[in-house]
Amino acid sequence: MAEKSKMYKNRVALPDDVKQKTVDVMNVTLAAALDMYSQAKFAHWNVKGINFYQLHLVFDATAKVIFKQIDPIAERITQLGGVASGTVRQSAEHSPISAYNVKAVAGKEHLVALSDALGTYCKELREASDKIDDIGDSPTSDFYNQLIVEAEEELYFLESHLEAGDVQ
Ligand SMILES: [Fe+2]
Repeated sequence: MAEKSKMYKNRVALPDDVKQKTVDVMNVTLAAALDMYSQAKFAHWNVKGINFYQLHLVFDATAKVIFKQIDPIAERITQLGGVASGTVRQSAEHSPISAYNVKAVAGKEHLVALSDALGTYCKELREASDKIDDIGDSPTSDFYNQLIVEAEEELYFLESHLEAGDVQ
């Protein structure tokens, strides 16, 4: 995000510029999480084929894990004095995740599309954690560590379906 976001003064014991820079990094994560959630739901709703029901459940499990991350990310932004830029339109503008393959039908197409998206989301979390550590807010960097472990577990669930290459 190029423009400086609005910040509120508070008693959190960090320099203003550390808070500002951390919030700006976190708002990209928030955009990515909202995008990731909607992409997992798209896969959950629209997958077809012989493995439909199992994948329908797997994709919803991914969506649930990501959904649970959204509120803590947004509220960590506001704890630091920032504004959580979490509308669908803000998410679409700032998410680093590529647009979903909305023509996907079969299980394998959705697994590839969602694994690509989730891989980007996991990469975004790791990069944001490192950036925030460098900026100087190690508690927020630590907060990302649990998000990374949860998201990478979901990535493992998705990618494991692709290893043997026999999903429809
Ligand atoms: Fe559902």
